[in-house]
Amino acid sequence: MLTRIGSTLLLFDEPLSPVQGTNLEQALAVRVMDRTEVILDIFATRARSAEAKMQVELAQLEYLLPRLTRMWTHLSRIRGGIGLRGPGETQLETDRRAIRRKISVLKQRLEDVADHRANQRQGRRPCPSAALVGYTNAGKSSILRALSGDDIFVEDRLFATLDTLTREVDVGGGYRFRLADTVGFIRKLPHHLVASFRATLEEARAADLLLHVIDAAHPAWEEQVEVVEREMRSAEFGMRNGKEGVDERKRVVYVFNKADLLPEPEAFLARARERYPHAVLTSSIPHSALRTPQSGGVEGLRSVLRTSAQALRPTATIRVPMGEGKLLAALHRDAEVMQEAQVDGVVQVTARVEAWLLGKLRRQGIEVEIAP
Ligand code: GTP
Repeated sequence: MLTRIGSTLLLFDEPLSPVQGTNLEQALAVRVMDRTEVILDIFATRARSAEAKMQVELAQLEYLLPRLTRMWTHLSRIRGGIGLRGPGETQLETDRRAIRRKISVLKQRLEDVADHRANQRQGRRPCPSAALVGYTNAGKSSILRALSGDDIFVEDRLFATLDTLTREVDVGGGYRFRLADTVGFIRKLPHHLVASFRATLEEARAADLLLHVIDAAHPAWEEQVEVVEREMRSAEFGMRNGKEGVDERKRVVYVFNKADLLPEPEAFLARARERYPHAVLTSSIPHSALRTPQSGGVEGLRSVLRTSAQALRPTATIRVPMGEGKLLAALHRDAEVMQEAQVDGVVQVTARVEAWLLGKLRRQGIEVEIAP
């Protein structure tokens, strides 16, 4: 049937095991590609940074390794040889060894990059951080661009973002938030890819807050939310929902994007809030192009971020006794110091301080006062 309609390629919307792939190719005499291979190909054409390229290459090689025989059979068929034997075992073994070597080199290099990234994170100015996560094409890059006014790569294509992009965004009230864009999720994302993107997703794991961006205008948005949450759980994000009775380790803000495409944005938000109390509606297209003013921009999200920043890093006045040089240095390292003056024989520091540090200071008997 396939050959009668002239097909040369058979695509499966499911992952196939190496044996299934070989058997199907032999039985049907056409090239067979599974979902994983297609997604890997898309990722390969989208990767921009050196790190993303390495991650995709690693995933491709791991996919290829157990399928090498099939690929070779396929190649020998191209060379014209029905009845021709494939290249000998020895060649195959040599190739497998070369691939294994390349895999371990790539893993090592990616580990180095991850270490470097972790160091960078530690060295950054203490400011709250959030990671944008979500289904592919939901609008993560667009939201980051709308919030930061930056020209970030945005395209109406799947997986336009392969690299973690980080921007510091002014959220008002003197607060800044560091936002990281992450790779888009998709139904049945190949596990090779999830594994190789672990380092990139590390950024999300380290964030104070997760912004789960949802394409509100997509008919299957609810299913997409589930896919993302499932993938995130399997990637050990610590993204747990209070409503499921599990500890709420990281706060998630549900960002319903593309509000400009909704016929009744307000009614939609009210419905969404029944299930997601932290829901916020956004549209990342320019304000002037919005159909209705209430489908509104990204200012709602900016104000959610400002409130979170205030809660995560309250402004406090800390009275450090004279001669506590070490403590002062620690404050400069771990908090955002805004003002410092000697008053009545103590050093009075006004700073944005994380809750854990405030607790530690109090335990040390240091006088701390939180600004209202
Ligand atoms: P991946 O990189 O695949 O994960 O995608 P992403 O989530 O970063 O999406 P991106 O920002 O690249 O946007 C995807 C498409 O949706 C682009 O064509 C955007 O122009 C469009 N888009 C994003 N936000 C909005 C919005 O608020 N309204 C409308 N109408 N379109 C939007």
